[in-house]
Amino acid sequence: TLNKISSSKFDTPSKRDDFEDILEERRNSSDLRYALKCYTPVLYKGLTPCKVSELKQMVLQSDQLGYVITQVSKEKGMTTDEVTGDAAAILEEMAQRLQLSTVRFFAFTLSKVFKTLFRSICVNEEGLQRLQQAIHNHPVVLLPSHRSYMDFLLMSYILYTYDLALPVIAAGMDFMGMKVVGEMLRMSGAFFIRRSFGGDKLYWAVFSEYVKIMLKNGYAPVEFFLEGTRSRTAKSLTPKLGLLNIVMDPFLKGEVFDISLVPVSISYERTLEEALYARELLGVPKPKESTSGLFKARKILSEDYGSIHVYFGQPVSVRSLAESRVNRSQFNLIPRHIPTRPSEEILSFVNDSAYRLVRAQEENMVLKPWVLLAFVLLQKQAAEDKQGTALDEFTEQAVWLRDLSRHYGAFLHWPDHIPPSEVVSSSLSLHRGLVRISEGRVQLALEQGFAITPEEELLNQAVVILSCVSYRNQALNVFIRPALLASAIHTAASNRKQEIYNGFSFLRNMFSNEFILCPGATVQDFEEACYLLVKTGALQINQQEVLITERGHRTLAFLTSVLDPFLQGYQVVCRFLCEEDCLTEKQFIPAVRKFIIKHLLTGRLRYIEVLSSDLQKNALAALIRLGAVQKIKGYVGFTHLRVPCWFDRLSGYPTLTPMPFKSVVAHL
Ligand SMILES: *[C@@H]1O[C@H](CO)[C@@H](O)[C@H](O)[C@H]1NC(C)=O
Ligand SMILES: *[C@@H]1O[C@H](CO)[C@@H](O)[C@H](O)[C@H]1NC(C)=O
Ligand SMILES: *[C@@H]1O[C@H](CO)[C@@H](O)[C@H](O)[C@H]1NC(C)=O
Repeated sequence: TLNKISSSKFDTPSKRDDFEDILEERRNSSDLRYALKCYTPVLYKGLTPCKVSELKQMVLQSDQLGYVITQVSKEKGMTTDEVTGDAAAILEEMAQRLQLSTVRFFAFTLSKVFKTLFRSICVNEEGLQRLQQAIHNHPVVLLPSHRSYMDFLLMSYILYTYDLALPVIAAGMDFMGMKVVGEMLRMSGAFFIRRSFGGDKLYWAVFSEYVKIMLKNGYAPVEFFLEGTRSRTAKSLTPKLGLLNIVMDPFLKGEVFDISLVPVSISYERTLEEALYARELLGVPKPKESTSGLFKARKILSEDYGSIHVYFGQPVSVRSLAESRVNRSQFNLIPRHIPTRPSEEILSFVNDSAYRLVRAQEENMVLKPWVLLAFVLLQKQAAEDKQGTALDEFTEQAVWLRDLSRHYGAFLHWPDHIPPSEVVSSSLSLHRGLVRISEGRVQLALEQGFAITPEEELLNQAVVILSCVSYRNQALNVFIRPALLASAIHTAASNRKQEIYNGFSFLRNMFSNEFILCPGATVQDFEEACYLLVKTGALQINQQEVLITERGHRTLAFLTSVLDPFLQGYQVVCRFLCEEDCLTEKQFIPAVRKFIIKHLLTGRLRYIEVLSSDLQKNALAALIRLGAVQKIKGYVGFTHLRVPCWFDRLSGYPTLTPMPFKSVVAHL
């Protein structure tokens, strides 16, 4: 299978739609009139309209919930009335109460806020037309990417603007701390779920029944975040399957003909939470999410956050996903109202679908020029370029990267009618908190002053670097497969294709908690990487061998440097684990952070971004998955013999300043 590199399969996804700026009209006409406009969204054709209270009755009277209520009452020795009362209370705590007046209030206020913060909010109108059609035909699930608190307000705002049905939104309980805000969100369509409800059968039953009934009746589109939580790093998170399982269930059980899943990609030119996320990743405790804190954010309102792009992707039919994958007759054997654990077959189907949907989100993320500039700035910083880069050299590198990313199918929003030097300087000026330009040279603004200890200074620098990393990360999905290939080529002892494939496969496996790499697609990913590098003339590949061309060196050097910080991060986590005895999961992050700080200060580690707790957690999860580390009740135990073995393989990959690993391995 490795011998034929099929051609067009990996070419740029089909042509993407154009964008319209919805703020433009808001700047010309009355916000009040907009907030009071006639709002008559298209509804699902099978809908029998009902009130919120009727919806709750349907949930409480459903067979499914009835079954669980009987079960729980037997287990706990309570009467069914008491358990039903509990269920009603859970539903009360959870349910949304959409009110048009609140929606209108939000439409008015958000117009004012958005116009202050953003230059434009661009949406693809064709995507919204497809969505409207989908809502008419089938129950719809909206799946936006999640990078900011604003995401779901923004979604509802756009749907209101285009006269589309407002979604009901699964929100985490974090908002419940903000009483007023929480209630307002509820009245604009949010319903609240507890962060963890572990084995609470009743809670789970009420929750899943509530979601399914809203969906089946076409009451409103259901919206939730596949990634489960906001990504602090701007990399997509591996999908959580719970809610996707629930929304696919009515189809799998034959209760609806089909369900449309609509991935939505929201990209911010500048995120409001930029520095907040960096601090969170560095372990500086985050401020409590209180209402007053939200309104105190006056400083935020006085800044320029550039533009937002929201891309509504092609609706994905669950029916076609399931075709030839799932045998639905298995569900006929058990009465529908008895809750059952999904079979392995179903779980892996839902898992595959979830990965495909997250990749669809990634592919339609609009990348701003700044994202590419972040690559260049970080690479220069890691190479200890103290003087900074001359602006024209910097621009040349940015343009080179622009062309490369386009060849790889990136959805780049680079205004071609403007000279590159202007594009670069306007991007730099929007992010002037992170970069410094002096005497025609540009570099990251790392010297913040006021630091007392070297450690404090390091952490100050880390805030800037992790902020910058959160932009670079937006384009990682474009480069990740070629980067894995480049690193595999870099360390292989020969040009043999099979050997390079083995290296690729090792790295891909190692990093599958870090990047969105679809389950079981190693060969396909390898082929895609080969195809892209051959297409751009960096490699020549024949039956047996992989050869780097003359012009390929620059590309390969760039690509290996993409993966380097991650390699160094995983190496250092391994190294740390080799030196540690058992420690609890709680101790892991603080201890590994201390270890990394020590080595950064002595200059043995070059990439400050390895301080990111996200990377450390992913590395640990990978080592647990690979069986190098074992979890013992509450402890992270490790089988010493195996950590060094992974570690040894990893240390074969030279990063900028490799740590002397071999001696440790020999020592053990
Ligand atoms: C809004 O006003 C600007 C100039 O003030 C004009 O160019 C633009 O076409 C107007 N847009 C709309 C949607 O009316
Ligand atoms: C689907 O499953 C049912 C029962 O489990 C079985 O009888 C049937 O042959 C299966 N159909 C296919 C196409 O595998
Ligand atoms: C989903 O796929 C990923 C990647 O292959 C795997 O690590 C994970 O265990 C799978 N999850 C389930 C529930 O099957």
